[in-house]
Amino acid sequence: MSDRQLSLAAILSATGSHIAGWRHPDCPADGGYNIRRYIEAAQIAEAAKFDLCFLADNYALKLASNEELSRTSNSIALLEPMTALSAMAMMTNDIGLVATMSTTYCEPFHVARMMASLDHISGGRAGWNLVTSANPAEALNFNRDAQDDHAMRYARGGEFVDVVRKLWDSWDDGALIADKESGRYFQPDGVAAIHHKGEHFSVRGPLNEARSPQGHPVIFQAGSSGAGIALAARSADCVFTQQRGIPGAKEFYATIKAAVADAGRDPDQVRVLPGMVPFVAETESEAQAKFDALQALVDPRVGLQILTAVLGGNVDLSIYDIDAPVPEIPETEGMKTFQANLLAEARDEGLSLRELYLRYAAGFGHWRVIGSATQVADVIEEAFHENAADGFAISSAMLPGSLGDFARLVVPELQRRGLFRTEYQGNTLRDRLGLNRPARIDPAAA
Ligand SMILES: Cc1cc2nc3c(=O)[nH]c(=O)nc-3n(C[C@H](O)[C@H](O)[C@H](O)COP(=O)(O)O)c2cc1C
Repeated sequence: MSDRQLSLAAILSATGSHIAGWRHPDCPADGGYNIRRYIEAAQIAEAAKFDLCFLADNYALKLASNEELSRTSNSIALLEPMTALSAMAMMTNDIGLVATMSTTYCEPFHVARMMASLDHISGGRAGWNLVTSANPAEALNFNRDAQDDHAMRYARGGEFVDVVRKLWDSWDDGALIADKESGRYFQPDGVAAIHHKGEHFSVRGPLNEARSPQGHPVIFQAGSSGAGIALAARSADCVFTQQRGIPGAKEFYATIKAAVADAGRDPDQVRVLPGMVPFVAETESEAQAKFDALQALVDPRVGLQILTAVLGGNVDLSIYDIDAPVPEIPETEGMKTFQANLLAEARDEGLSLRELYLRYAAGFGHWRVIGSATQVADVIEEAFHENAADGFAISSAMLPGSLGDFARLVVPELQRRGLFRTEYQGNTLRDRLGLNRPARIDPAAA
């Protein structure tokens, strides 16, 4: 038996991941901008021994009129992740804190510095969700008329992460000595400029921050295209993915692990975490009722808008009959894998636009499981044992209620089966995830 451990991440998305969740009477509607809601959710996840909580992010409202956008809480009014996680770090002790930052719109120095700071602030619990940013509206907030194409975003992302890691290595462990006797604050040979000059970045370094507890905060990545998998294979510690069942998840898991091995890394040192939207209650019929209640709150205008966003933002779906089969829609430069999956699903099953958006209404197409604690735990156990997942990123339909349901009902069942920890071990997020602390590559010697 290997000592492979199940991991659980809590995706904390404002009012929750169901597109109509904020309208439910049990859902506090200020979840996106009230830091106390974030803290409450993180504390629920921590009490249930989750590995980490995760804040997604993007840098624009979608390209649509205010009239269209005004009926959704998704990506509308969110706290900036690094700021929010810094506050959450002070109100939690053990749970990992993972923030999204973009390689397309940030600079490597910013990301390296902020992540190192969060790692210091949290005592080694920081993680970075590396995204290349697919929403075309984001480009318009950063001095551009249009987004870079997919290949260019990934090329820049690859060099970006190399620079970030070099900056994290620019200080040796223990280089900051603050020796009052000798008058020496840091060891001169423990700090080195990186002198990076590449196609996209020119960065001298070193970082103006001592090496953080984890050395390298944990890197998460969620690209599923060829370029996305290649980037994950050489640079990610954890891979988020969108899957909808054991066969597809197994195939993706095998693809990632093989790509990691081909990149010369140990596949056991990369964790694969599909997203899951669980609807759980004491009985299956109660869980189904919870799901039905949320689906009934979906406004068709919001339904079409989430499909438009996945399809790249520049298709007008309102011209089509909502109850006719989904029309042919050309590929865009946005989230290629999501688009392809969405359209294939509609075609294969002859879905109408309404049927398709209702599938996406709960967690944007993540793996949806509706049932009792036993039924949800069965899916998790099978996926774990079948090498379809090393754990799951739990995307709660409503926050904090659905996360509370999962923590109260499913986690004890997973613990009873010996699948999930009952106490935290180690101190850092790397310890929780079973990931080694990377050895430093001295930039002065490289
Ligand atoms: C669980 C999960 C979380 C994600 N979070 C973000 C995010 O916060 N911001 C973002 O711009 N993209 C996010 N993405 C999208 C990915 O970064 C990526 O664009 C998408 O998976 C498509 O990858 P591809 O272009 O390689 O096909 C997320 C994807 C998944 C599966």
